[in-house]
Amino acid sequence: MAGSLLITRIGELVTNSPADAGESAGPGDFALISDAALVIEDERIAWTGPSARAPAADGVVDAAGRAVLPGFVDSHAHLVFAGDRSAEFAARMAGDAYAAGGIRSTVTATRAATDAELRAGLRRLVTEMLRQGTTTFECKSGYGLTVPDEARSVALAAEVTPEVTYLGAHVVPPEWDGDPGGYVDLVRGPMLAACAPYSRWVDVFCERGAFGADEARAVLAAGKACGLLPRVHANQLGLGPGIAVAVEAGAASADHCTFLSDADVAALAASGTVATLLPGAEFGTRQPYPDARRLLDAGVAVALATDCNPGSSYTSSMPFCVALAVRDMRMTTAEAVWAATAGGARALRRPDIGYLAPGARADLIMLDAPSHAHLAYRPGVPLVRAVWRSGRRADLGLIRVQIAAYG
Ligand code: NIG
Ligand code: FE
Repeated sequence: MAGSLLITRIGELVTNSPADAGESAGPGDFALISDAALVIEDERIAWTGPSARAPAADGVVDAAGRAVLPGFVDSHAHLVFAGDRSAEFAARMAGDAYAAGGIRSTVTATRAATDAELRAGLRRLVTEMLRQGTTTFECKSGYGLTVPDEARSVALAAEVTPEVTYLGAHVVPPEWDGDPGGYVDLVRGPMLAACAPYSRWVDVFCERGAFGADEARAVLAAGKACGLLPRVHANQLGLGPGIAVAVEAGAASADHCTFLSDADVAALAASGTVATLLPGAEFGTRQPYPDARRLLDAGVAVALATDCNPGSSYTSSMPFCVALAVRDMRMTTAEAVWAATAGGARALRRPDIGYLAPGARADLIMLDAPSHAHLAYRPGVPLVRAVWRSGRRADLGLIRVQIAAYG
């Protein structure tokens, strides 16, 4: 967008504004302004405040009482894959258990796919995310598990996001069944070397049936030595060493956190590691939801993300995750929206997103609703009316219907 844009008559503007305005240290606590306006200049937020005091701008959008929020930050997604596991999902809903091994069927389909097929699937999911208000997302490899298949996964991911995560340590692929140590050497050696140029993050699935503590430590250390930042899939299917490994490695985030000991909670609270909760995975595997209240009450920073993947959580919808977190994890609507925006930004160590205050990147969404609470109050309803990314309004391809104003 050239010039400035004023969005005025915002019923409720969620800002998550940092206490110290003007600093670019990242989002602050949940905060909102009623009867608000904001000004976008080029890629950034230039001004926020009461509508009555809004400055003039080159263009004007009348929000007519609708809510405006920071764009969602989905800090955990597996989007480069081929194949379909709806039969596995159906069997699970009929009583089967979820196990880490299901990943292998997606690995087989992904290896067999062409680059064009993988790119088409990836872009379809990215479009879905954008339509649902996600303006920044992380994307992992992990369904290739050979040097060339992992390298093309991170290369494809890098076409659509800067937040690319190398997850060669997702599971041990079948051809390495007899030599898991040999596979770990591949992951922290030649596979890492091929993937690091496209990646910002290194991740490991530290879980029974995937990788143990020492293997996880070795992969994270090798990734860090190549300049990658660590994050960990931890304690999804049971208690284990994942949280301790993540905290010890200085990971930006420990993801899942479904089964936690008191020591895990204390370690997270004393660390800079965000607990990223992925309620879509509990929904899709019929596991108990993580105890968000226990984490929040202990002072842990909590993020929400989709975990979008064909096995455990085939949703690309941050609004759905917010609704689950509010209804089934007892997060307040404010806590859930903060976790889906500012929390995700913190889990990705991004000081430029997750909030709306002068200097922040102009990533924002307008809801067809008067408040953020409607994201949980009206589950499953496509409430995202407009999305701006880096100050540019995205074409959502939606049919626009004139509706009554909210105020
Ligand atoms: O985050 N936990 C490991 N990875 C994915 C599941 C992947 C799959 O089942 O294909 C997850 O839930
Ligand atoms: Fe995951």
